[in-house]
Amino acid sequence: MSGVIESVLHELRVFTPPQDAQARFDDMDAYRAMRQRFDDDFTGTWGDLAAQHLSWSKPFSTVLDDSDAPFFKWFADGELNVSENCLDRHVAAGLGGRAAIIWEGEPGEVRHISYAELLGDVCRAANAMRALGIGKGDRVVIYMPMIPEAAVAMLACTRIGATHSVVFGAFSSKALHERIEDAGAKMVVTADGAWRRGAVHALKPFVDEALSWGCPSIEHVMVVRRGGNAVDWTDGRDVDWQPALAAQPDVCEPLAVESEHPLFILYTSGSTGKPKGIIHATGGYLLWGRLTMQWTFDFRPESDVFWCTADIGWITGHTYSVYGPLACGGTTVMYEGVPTYPDAGRLWKICQDHAVSLFYTAPTAIRALIKAGDAWPARHDLSKIRVLGTVGEPINPEAWMWYHKVIGGGRCPIVDTWWQTETGGHMITPLPFATATKPGSATFPLPGIFAEVVDGEGEPVGHGQGGLLVVTRPWPSMLRGIWGDPARYVRTYWQKFEGRYYFAGDGARKDDDGYYWIMGRVDDVLNVSGHRLGTMEIESALVSHPAVAEAAVVGRPDDIKGEAVCAFVVLKQAEREGLRTELRKHVAHEIGPIAKPDDIRFADSLPKTRSGKIMRRLLRDIAAGRDITSDMSTLEDHKVIEQLQSQGQERR
Ligand code: PRX
Repeated sequence: MSGVIESVLHELRVFTPPQDAQARFDDMDAYRAMRQRFDDDFTGTWGDLAAQHLSWSKPFSTVLDDSDAPFFKWFADGELNVSENCLDRHVAAGLGGRAAIIWEGEPGEVRHISYAELLGDVCRAANAMRALGIGKGDRVVIYMPMIPEAAVAMLACTRIGATHSVVFGAFSSKALHERIEDAGAKMVVTADGAWRRGAVHALKPFVDEALSWGCPSIEHVMVVRRGGNAVDWTDGRDVDWQPALAAQPDVCEPLAVESEHPLFILYTSGSTGKPKGIIHATGGYLLWGRLTMQWTFDFRPESDVFWCTADIGWITGHTYSVYGPLACGGTTVMYEGVPTYPDAGRLWKICQDHAVSLFYTAPTAIRALIKAGDAWPARHDLSKIRVLGTVGEPINPEAWMWYHKVIGGGRCPIVDTWWQTETGGHMITPLPFATATKPGSATFPLPGIFAEVVDGEGEPVGHGQGGLLVVTRPWPSMLRGIWGDPARYVRTYWQKFEGRYYFAGDGARKDDDGYYWIMGRVDDVLNVSGHRLGTMEIESALVSHPAVAEAAVVGRPDDIKGEAVCAFVVLKQAEREGLRTELRKHVAHEIGPIAKPDDIRFADSLPKTRSGKIMRRLLRDIAAGRDITSDMSTLEDHKVIEQLQSQGQERR
């Protein structure tokens, strides 16, 4: 099990939820009643919710089709359009003037984009994409900074039935190339550059480089002018976003697609092989995005301002910066830059300036801001905040307590939401005005979600015992597969328990009160600053450097990032000056800066068992500076251990 930061504070208090009679779930009886509805009539309840919460162009007659499990289908004969659900229906309801997006650029400019304006922009973009040959089922890669045009591009794809694949803007051109190729994308939407830490960082050159390695499926690159930086231009291929949109009418009939139509592909790291293109389907995903906004955050679109700080390059940004809030007809905040620019008060200033009432971020950001000191939040009025959320990694009790006291003023419930790229939306989380919380626990599965902690044979483990987290029944926003590799989908998520359960890849335990505690990944996936990174991906990046013969990567606990990347490297020749820096740069170039190893240790060989398996647990102990707990009797060469341990001080 990979290391989660070790907490010094043992916070055993239970925090009772604030009373709010207007909340959708105002106590645990309401929660239990909803759960009971699913127990009594699983498909009927999902069907009622889907009919009630989404606008269908063609109503569905079947709710769940499990005839080809684990390839489940939801609302399969129904048809709908996501942009219509996120925009037109709110405009038609008279909400055209309400802010859909409040955007703040890093230099400080602010844009309020109303639902009516957003609809117009999305229609123009959809028309422009169509004019460039994009149609239903085509894949469009979106490689963008956090600017409103990113959301416009996503929604424009949905308008015409194209399947988008957002690639995080800080991924390398190599990573971008790999994803474009895998998805067989026809178009890339990007920007010239974006603001980060007070300077413009170019983005388009990464696209140019990725395409220079050959992506024959790409026909066009649309380029939003944001940074104002000069970029190379390939005539016939590259298209300026702004004039292309201006030339189009602001009306575009939404194309109704089947509920199972792939809405998007989002790549995420696994324990083996290259990143997996997780497929999400239209109807089920949108339903759960909307419902979880209402349930987990108690979102009230008429009065709340919701801010999820995640980048749209991650699932959190998809579901909770774009689709969830817009499906509800509420206001979502987007911010372009880094949280600490120009100072560590930036997030709190944004909360104050835009009257943010629901705030959602990752524990790693909280820990970084704790370090910056309480004076920063104290300078800003955070009194509008009523619910705080966290996501991406286990939250340590210190960070939870600080968030609760300093940001929430002791009055705001905290929702610690456990979920994954694959689950599409929240799975295990408190309900803010119903669930008594325990710092560090994601508490209970949402109504409709059936989760268990089981042993290797799939039997539930007793309270207090660690086990594997599984989901025992399908749910509408579940992944539909891995792009181009259905067998890998079955192997990764369903094989372990012979098709009975969805295997999440996390360890967990339930305490005596039935609270779920997530204990971290049980596979070779690291969680660095709430981002998933496969150790094998980083190892492949390292061995692609000419100086490296062999590499093993493990995680070690880190105060801010949760987990840090620790690489053990065997060189082909003797170590030379500056090689550590060079290797870190190389990994950044291959994958992206987030994957850069924090520590690199060189050795003559890696510790292996007699059968040749790298002893990863041993490496994890060495990386963390812990006493070695592994059985070393099968180890080939004991000298290696001393060599690796002795580099503890000089690792950076
Ligand atoms: O290990 C769990 C951790 O993040 C993984 C999912 O990563 P990703 O697909 O990138 O999605 C992150 C955002 C949803 C999970 O397998 N994780 C996520 N949320 C939590 C968490 N671990 C503990 N507590 C959480 N609240």
